[in-house]
Amino acid sequence: MENLIAAFTSLTGSAPVGVWSAPGRVNLIGEHTDYNDGFCMPFALPHRVLVAAAPRTDRTWRVQSLNNGEVVTFSGEDLVPGMSGWQAYVAGVVWALGEAGHAVDGADLVLTSDVPMGAGLSSSAALECAVLTVLADLNELDIAGIDRAKLARRCENEFVGAPTGLMDQAASTLCTEGHALFFDCRSFETRQVPFDPAEAGLELLVVDTNTPHTHVDGEYAERRRSCDQAAATLGVPALRDITSDGLADALARLDDPIIQRRVRHVVTEDERVLDAVRRLEAGDVAGLAPLLDASHASMRDDFEITVPTVDLAVETARRAGAIGARMTGGGFGGCIIALVPRGEADRVADAVAAAFAEAGHAAPDRFIAAPSAGAGRIA
Ligand code: GLA
Repeated sequence: MENLIAAFTSLTGSAPVGVWSAPGRVNLIGEHTDYNDGFCMPFALPHRVLVAAAPRTDRTWRVQSLNNGEVVTFSGEDLVPGMSGWQAYVAGVVWALGEAGHAVDGADLVLTSDVPMGAGLSSSAALECAVLTVLADLNELDIAGIDRAKLARRCENEFVGAPTGLMDQAASTLCTEGHALFFDCRSFETRQVPFDPAEAGLELLVVDTNTPHTHVDGEYAERRRSCDQAAATLGVPALRDITSDGLADALARLDDPIIQRRVRHVVTEDERVLDAVRRLEAGDVAGLAPLLDASHASMRDDFEITVPTVDLAVETARRAGAIGARMTGGGFGGCIIALVPRGEADRVADAVAAAFAEAGHAAPDRFIAAPSAGAGRIA
């Protein structure tokens, strides 16, 4: 925080009017369900994007990233979808606010992030949501949390051009400390679900496999298309409308075995989220474990979004004593989460590191995650 304020002062010659932050997320369960109008349950990480800011009197935005030292300046005319680089996540938020009819003045922004990038922990949503919070406050805009998430997603979808669902921005905006966020991606109903692994004698370990996300954009878009195509064939608005009772019937009406598997993942995953909410609300944190395992198997075998390093990490963590484990995030690399007995996280993570070394993979990273607060002003 001191470094950030010092950097801001050295860039602009005066102190910021405030500091804001927004978190990355881990998705506990409910993968590739958001764009199928289904359910998910992310929680906010302590890892965040921090932004020091002050208003300007022109319609110019000057932004410095302390992660790479770059300073970028853009004005109203530069707000054209398709912009590349990290600054697109900042400019796209200004653009999305404008498209929604919110006039925003220029600003100086200095930011820093400790959300691991390219790890499936929503570093880009954290950046969008942090900037959105800053601009909403500086311009005294009264925008409800869910609408902020939708504006940040609009930046991601229409300005940056990534066809994601709403989960990551909803998590970064709406999560609260000590809770996972149950999110109904059709009705936008949310529920704060208490999630305290420590109280249950457990820890939630995150292992970053450090696998580069090759082909992730193309594969993600392809999974979305398959789901839309299946919903159209089945005559429903979205796969959310197929329940587990109707699954066998729905599968019988699809001839492509790949599409059948995609549908089975989405329908069973929605069911697992609802089950996970029931278990957590009944105080049964350990009850999540079999659901995590089943979710992983479904992502591996039916949705086919895991990769060998991710599967190795999950299998090794399970063998080393995790009571349940799954990949988290969009897939094709990224992180796994493992529910482990308290005090065992290092041992489990060491086992994964040893298995990676033996297989010749780059060393993984690890941390224990506790559910943290969503976006807001912190100074
Ligand atoms: C990425 C997307 C989300 C969601 C997940 C998969 O994180 O940004 O919208 O679809 O993948 O659950």
